[in-house]
Amino acid sequence: MKEKLEALRTQALAELEAADTPKVLEEFRIRFMGKKGPLTELLRGMGALPAEERPRVGQMVNQLRAELETALATREEAIQSALKAARLKEETLDVTMPGKRAAAGGLHPLNSVLNNMIDIFQSMGFDVVDGPEVETDYYNFECLNVPKDHPARDMQDTFYIGENLLLRTQTSAAQIRTMEERKPPIRVICPGRVYRADEVDATHSPVFHQIEGLVVDKNITICDLKGVLEQFAHEMYGADTKVRFRPSFFPFTEPSVEVDVSCSACGGTGCRICKGVGWIEILGAGMVHPRVLKSCGIDPEEYSGFAFGIGLDRLTTTRHKISDIRLLFENDRRFLDQF
Ligand code: PHE
Repeated sequence: MKEKLEALRTQALAELEAADTPKVLEEFRIRFMGKKGPLTELLRGMGALPAEERPRVGQMVNQLRAELETALATREEAIQSALKAARLKEETLDVTMPGKRAAAGGLHPLNSVLNNMIDIFQSMGFDVVDGPEVETDYYNFECLNVPKDHPARDMQDTFYIGENLLLRTQTSAAQIRTMEERKPPIRVICPGRVYRADEVDATHSPVFHQIEGLVVDKNITICDLKGVLEQFAHEMYGADTKVRFRPSFFPFTEPSVEVDVSCSACGGTGCRICKGVGWIEILGAGMVHPRVLKSCGIDPEEYSGFAFGIGLDRLTTTRHKISDIRLLFENDRRFLDQF
């Protein structure tokens, strides 16, 4: 009996020694210590022994069981801590490795130039207003004194959505909405997208941006227009920038002007940015036509005003010396990351 127990002990300890995963260990526990294991069997078989031997054998079996239980627990602990060590090793963090920089967004160049312009006009007392991009023929053309046969109304130039509905071709539509809603004194700018059926090339895009400006009050003259726009140009391009007013024509202003600034890239001597002429056209403007004031319920005998429309895209490309307007709309990160 003693030899039998000794053999069992040797075998069990050897198997325990060899067990290297929790699974093998569990199998061992079931096989040796379980209800059908050799230890239980030995205890059960004790009935066949002479009565005086039973206590001794019982004691030996129990001793072996206790010993194996301890050995099992020790082994289990060893396996768990080996597993933990392996896992820690695998998950080690190299704190000296350079971190990944989170890609931070930035303002699109159009937006940063726009914000700049809004600051300038707000400091002169202008409010910022908004207008719809889908406009009626009435607000975009009719009320702005654009006659029915004007070429701008052509399907070739304007995106029509319905007979009287279109994508606004100019932010000037916002002038009318403003004058209908507010009473003078009025001092607003309205930045936004405008649409024209243009072919895409380096200087044209079917969608671009304007900032409309409108001032209506008593005794507003063309000197006010000149003063405001000169101030704007100097703040935008620098105090030594020259500003030039050329006579022009718009159906909704009389008289009308176009405004150029001396090219900031070459200082006026002529370069690639200004196409060799030394000047860059940045806006159209004029005194609001009395007929337009009247159709908005403002008495042209009492009030006068001026309006201007600045091309944001042109301003942005010249300011940042960008050679192709398409770059502003392609959203190529390699381009945008430069700003
Ligand atoms: N709306 C005109 C254009 O798109 C610009 C403009 C605005 C002219 C306001 C005069 C007054 O060309």
